[in-house]
This record gives sequence, C-alpha cells and structure tokens, in this order.
Amino acid sequence: MCGIAGVVSSQPVSDRLFRGIKNLEYRGYDSCGVAYLNSSGIVVRKNIGYVDSVNVTERLCEIEGHVGIAHTRWATHGRVTKANSHPHMSCNGDFAVVHNGIISNYRGLRDELRMQGHEFASDTDSEVLAHLVEEYYRVTEDVEKAFTEALGRVEGSYAFALISTHEPGKIFCARCKSPLVMGIGNKSNYLGSDFITFLSYTRKVIFLDDGEYAVICGDDYYTKKIESGELVDKPITEISWDPETSKKNGYPHYMLKEIHEQPNAMVSAMGLDNQGVVELARMILDADQCFLVGVGTTYYVSLIGQYLFSIHADHFIPAVSSDEFTNLAKPTNNSLAIFVSQSGETYDTLNALRFIKEAGGSSAAIVNVMGSSLARMADHTIMQGSGPEICVVSTKAATSQMIILLQAALELAHLTGKLSRGEKGEIERAMSEIPGRINSVINDNSEFIRGLANKYSHIKNWLWLGRGLYYPLALESALKMKEVTYLHAEGMSGGFLKHGTLSLIDEDMYTVVLVPPKEEEDLYQLTMSSVEEIKARGGFVIGIGFDHDEDLFDEIILLPKVSRFLAPFLPLVPAQLFAYFVALSLDREIDKPKSLAKSVTVP
Ligand code: F6R
Repeated sequence: MCGIAGVVSSQPVSDRLFRGIKNLEYRGYDSCGVAYLNSSGIVVRKNIGYVDSVNVTERLCEIEGHVGIAHTRWATHGRVTKANSHPHMSCNGDFAVVHNGIISNYRGLRDELRMQGHEFASDTDSEVLAHLVEEYYRVTEDVEKAFTEALGRVEGSYAFALISTHEPGKIFCARCKSPLVMGIGNKSNYLGSDFITFLSYTRKVIFLDDGEYAVICGDDYYTKKIESGELVDKPITEISWDPETSKKNGYPHYMLKEIHEQPNAMVSAMGLDNQGVVELARMILDADQCFLVGVGTTYYVSLIGQYLFSIHADHFIPAVSSDEFTNLAKPTNNSLAIFVSQSGETYDTLNALRFIKEAGGSSAAIVNVMGSSLARMADHTIMQGSGPEICVVSTKAATSQMIILLQAALELAHLTGKLSRGEKGEIERAMSEIPGRINSVINDNSEFIRGLANKYSHIKNWLWLGRGLYYPLALESALKMKEVTYLHAEGMSGGFLKHGTLSLIDEDMYTVVLVPPKEEEDLYQLTMSSVEEIKARGGFVIGIGFDHDEDLFDEIILLPKVSRFLAPFLPLVPAQLFAYFVALSLDREIDKPKSLAKSVTVP
C-alpha cells in the first residue's frame, strides 16, 4: 500500500534512504523512487521494478544530499509506469511529494489546477498535492502554510512527505488515516510508514496521529494539528525490537524463516502477562454482543477464534470480515469488537474500529506491531510479541494470535464456571507442548513436504477441506497457497463440498484434507466421508492428519499425536510449508508475491 521514507541529517542520507525503502518494500513493490535536495535543487530518480533493480538503473544511492524522501509504490490510481511512480514534482520543480493513501477528491482538484495552468505528469491522485502546495506558496510565500492550506483541500486518506527548495533543510509531513512514524536520531531525524524503515539507526519513535503534521530538521522537529496549527507535544516511544530479527539470518526467504520462528513466537505469546487475556475475557462477559474482526488471514484467525470460544467456553462470538463489518454488524453501546491484526494498520479493520466506536461500543485488539494505529486506538490492546513479520504472507503472527485466542477462550470458560481452575490449568499445561510439537513437524516433515511439492507443483487447481475447527484452517491454508503460488486454491468445509463443488472433482483437481485425530470420532468420520466422496469421483487426495489411513489417501503428511484440544494447532504448519515449497518449485516471488502488499492501508 506504498511505503514512505525520509531522512534529514548533517551527513549524506542516500544510503539510509535506500535502506529505508528496502525495508518498506513489503508495502508495495511495483515501482519506487527518491527525491533529494542539493545545491542544484530537487533531484528525482524513479522507475518501475523492485528497489534493487531500480537502484541498478537509477543509481539511487549515488545522489548527494542531506535531505531526502523516498517511496515504494503499490499502484491504486494509474498504471505501473515510471511517470506514475513517486516522488511527484510541482510544475516549477520547487516541491516534491510522496504519498500513501487515496485522495478521493483528486479529480476535482486536478481540473481546478489545470484551469490555473498546471500541467500533470502522471495519472495519480497523489500529484495534486505538489501542485496545490505550489499554488498556495504563490500566495503565502511560506512552505508550512502552503502545505497545511493544501492539506485542508484534500479528502480521503494520506500520509504525505514533502521537500521544497524554499526550505532546504526540512521535511514536511502529515497523516490522515495512513500510518506515519518519525524516528529521532543523533543529528539525524527520520520518517517512515513504520519504524522498521529506520530501526537500524534509531529506536526512538514518535507516532503521528490523524490530523497532525510535522516539520523535521536534522537536529530538531515539531508537531502540530493540521486544522488549528496548535503545537502537539508527542511522547517518544523506545522500540524494543532488535533490528537483527528483521534480517533473513541465512534463510533463503523470510517466509521460511518466519515459519521456523513459529515455535518461539508461540512461546512468547504464551509468556505474555496474563492480565491482558483476563481483561479481554471480562470484557466479553460484560458485553451484550461480541464480534471477532479481521480480514484476509486475520479473518480466518477470527473464524478459528469463533470455534475456540464455542468449543471451550460455550460462547458464540461471530467472526466478521472487517471489509464487510460496517455493512453487516449492528453494534450498540454495549457491544464489543475484538480486532485481530498483524500490522495494526489495515484500513478495513481500522474502519470497523471507528464504526464500533461511533456506536459507543468497546474494542479490544490482538496486534503485533507496537504503536500501530489499532494498538493505540483500541480500548484494550494485547501486544502479541511475535517480532517483525517481513514476508507479505502471514505465518507466525497468525499462529500466535490463535494461541492468544485459545487463552482467552479458556479464561472465559473459567470465569463462567465451565472450566475449574484445575481443568483450565491442565489444558494450559498441555498447551505448552504445542511449540515443541510444531518444531518436530517442521524438522521431521519439511523434506517430505518439499518432495510432495516438487512432485505436484504442475497441478493448477487445489481444494483444501476441513470440518469443525479444521474448516477455517482449510480456508487459511488455501489462502496461503494461492497468494504465494498464484495457483487456484479454494478452502471449504467438508459438508459444503456436496452442495455444488463436487462437480469440479476430477483428475485435474487435487484435494488436501485436514483430518482431525481419530478421538474426534464424529468429526473424523465426517471428514473421511468427504474423502470417500472425492475418491469415488476419481479425485486425488493428500491427507494432513494424525493417523495412517493408507488405502484412502494418495499421499499423507503425518503429524505427531497430541491431545485433541491441541491437534488443530498443527496442520497449518505443513500447509504453510507445502505452499512455500510449491511456490519455490514454480520460482515465484515468495516474500513479495505479485499484486499483494503486507499492510493494506486503502479501502
Ligand atoms: C495473508 C495476509 C493478509 C493479511 C490481511 C490483514 O497472508 O497476510 O491477508 O492477513 O491483509 O492484515 P493485518 O493482519 O495486518 O491486519
């Protein structure tokens, strides 16, 4: 969804700016560019492609300058072309801007500016800001005033950064519904869409809020409200994430590294201060109506949570995809929405949060990124502590969120008297086995799964099936597969299969079935009847399960035996590995699949 970086320093900034957009590439990678201020004015270099390849053609690191802004793009308005990549310049070349978000009234503004004689070099919504500032500067002769006047004209969502030849030592930036973070360094200050942008240089961070702007120099800065111009005293937050953890550490891809990090991420989730989960369970108990809300993977995690609350606490909490929440939910002032999000910046999820707030309801969040909008806006936040997740495709963040939702379900069951302290303690003790078991799944099965992936990566259509709690796991497995392999993969409940999709089963459609352990008698039998139905139609079936049923499955990935409560935490890991190895065999861009971005900050 586009990433923004900026550096102002007493030293040359090109290396730090380049590293900044490299770190932000997960937010968009169809094109990128930089703008520097130096003695000859503003120099812009940009082109289509990944940051490294644009660096080869445009030599982004070789420009002299102590002030610069940069951008990685995920196209929304205008095709992927050099002209549409950011930064964008005003007609007179005195202003350059980068933007993340969508300016909803850009057409009207562009028409108006054209009437005033402005010529546009791109099809983007973003370019209007550069021309607007130029126009207001003509009147005010003050860059800050011109910037805020221009901001007053734009509608929609934005994080903007602007440099100007009239104020050569400064970056002007502002935020409205798109993330923007400042880094406070030593004789250098930074700007980024997140703090990963500059974490190698400073851990001191200021999170801008909606409706605020900042003026940043190398050794100073101030923040103000856009509307009133009133100064805002922003707290500095010290980030505890180690920049080293955001490196690949010898793994060929972040996705594989993050799959391997899952046991540790789960241990961190289990080690969180229990008070956060207790408070969440109390909020659920106090509310008349609750929702679990996320989108994409976090919607599937919410669905998994829905099952966990039903199974363990006899409490039905519907999961709603954040993008449909405002169309579907009817919250009141005694409703609670529990938001699940890795980034804490997803537009649809934040929009759903605003919706519940407007209804007077309360909100809780399970979120990975410190200081993110969701983490700061929710009434109660549980920071999941999974460490940076860099691959666009979510793995370790999702499985850790599942752990926290299980803890909350158990806590709720205890509060309502469904589970005694002893029973709850017993399940929790068993839970502590999950990370070790997942480690074994990774160590013992990776090579076998790689073999299967190589053998079957030519198959273009995949069905993922599960029943009960294994149904949302099948949905998430299919999502992993399609986003990273670009193959058609559909997740479905075993029961639903009979109601239409069975007609697609033939030798070209392969099915992966997530099979519960045999102790789950009914669920197991029902799952196996789906397998029979597929086999009867000549379908090929790979099982991921705990028991060896050789005659029915064409292939089986065997998982270690665990208690039936914990079993659902295992199948997602071989599913992630299978998706990874199929993508590897097809030579896909695994960490940055085409058309995707990690943090979807536009509607
Ligand atoms: C899929 C994936 C996305 C995100 C979704 C929500 O692997 O990562 O579907 O889950 O965009 O993002 P967050 O969790 O950051 O709100």
